[in-house]
Amino acid sequence: MENFVFQNKTKIIFGRDTESQVGEETAQYAKKVLLHYGGGSIKKSGLYDRVTASLKKAGVDFVELSGAQPNPRLSLIRKGIDICRKENITFILAVGGGSAIDSAKAMAAGVPYNGDVWDFYCGKAAPEKALDVATVLTIPAAGSESSPSSVVTNEDGDLKRGLTNDLLRPVFSILNPTLTFTLPPYQTACGAADIMAHIMERYFTTTQHADFTDRLCEAAMKSIIHNVPVCIKEPENYDARAEVMWAGCVAHNDLLGTGRNQDWASHGIEHEISGIYDVAHGAGLAVVFPAWMKYVYKSNISNINRFVQFASRVWNVEIDFHNQEKTALAGIAALENFLSSIGMPIRLKEMDVGSDRLEEMAAKCTGNGTRTIGGFMPLDKNAINEILKIAL
Ligand code: NZQ
Ligand code: ZN
Repeated sequence: MENFVFQNKTKIIFGRDTESQVGEETAQYAKKVLLHYGGGSIKKSGLYDRVTASLKKAGVDFVELSGAQPNPRLSLIRKGIDICRKENITFILAVGGGSAIDSAKAMAAGVPYNGDVWDFYCGKAAPEKALDVATVLTIPAAGSESSPSSVVTNEDGDLKRGLTNDLLRPVFSILNPTLTFTLPPYQTACGAADIMAHIMERYFTTTQHADFTDRLCEAAMKSIIHNVPVCIKEPENYDARAEVMWAGCVAHNDLLGTGRNQDWASHGIEHEISGIYDVAHGAGLAVVFPAWMKYVYKSNISNINRFVQFASRVWNVEIDFHNQEKTALAGIAALENFLSSIGMPIRLKEMDVGSDRLEEMAAKCTGNGTRTIGGFMPLDKNAINEILKIAL
């Protein structure tokens, strides 16, 4: 096991009716907030009314900014920064999914900064201060409700880039599984694919002897594999929704990555796809992750062993001791079957992504071929191009 520091400041308030506590929790930090949300699902579900009533009851004034889109855009973030500065706002409450939350985090970093917030996402600067952010989560997926990350799309150049900094972890997040009852099956499945990917990015490690977190990862994956089909079949099944919501949060709160090196190449590749084609992040990962697996699984003996463990412990594949490759491939096939069974695409063409921009994407995520990505197996521009071809 490798040395690590684990610290996660986000207070999780989990369960039925917990959004009614948002006012009193927020009042501990600020008397005036920016209320940030997406395209309207929270109005349709009645959540907006409950959140604003709770804020009013606690004496918290709010200014609203709606319109965070999936793959949240830089232009709206700049607008939010202007509003916060003009209104002297020091606290942002995001109500929604990863997009509204990431957009809120970007504003939080941008408000106290003298330069342009994009500097943080292109590596030109690092935030030294940020406003406080809190969330009411409506979709288990991105894990942004307790992660230190924010991922933003700059319309200028279709660049989707991430910023990771502990300042960005929300001070509290409210997770009420009933808020996810209204999720369409496709969004539920996109969330599941993203959660699985967050676990697998950590699971596929070159660190030896990280057995405790291996088994935590396996338990989290098994829970998703079991409960997501239930959520799709019975959208109002509280217990299944609750399992997925909590697993989705833990999948990306850094616990499962403790003491081990991690990969993250599939996320790097996917962000280029959603940056250009504006597809759902989870759907992009459902396509990229199996392709990545097919490229890396037999790169060396310890890598193939890990794929055999994945096949056996996560997918109950019987190990063929004479043919490890067969076992490894059966695990990858089981993952693809699962993703497909919940309605995810598993090839780029299912998302109307053709072969014309593969090289561009491979170049973009390797800084024009100047660096490699991935901790499990470092990948250069050519390797990524090959993975994208497998994904076609
Ligand atoms: O905008 P509204 O109207 O709210 O509709 C949303 C949106 O269309 C809808 N939705 C959300 N909750 C709903 C609902 N519809 C009905 N009922 C509900 N309860 O679902 C759609 C997707 O929402 P979005 O916020 O985009 O989903 P998600 O949570 O998957 O976030 C995706 C973004 O997070 C980033 C992704 O790259 C992507 O941009 N990520 C953020 C990470 C982080 N900050 O740590 C890590 C991830 O790897 C990821 O990159
Ligand atoms: Zn993700």
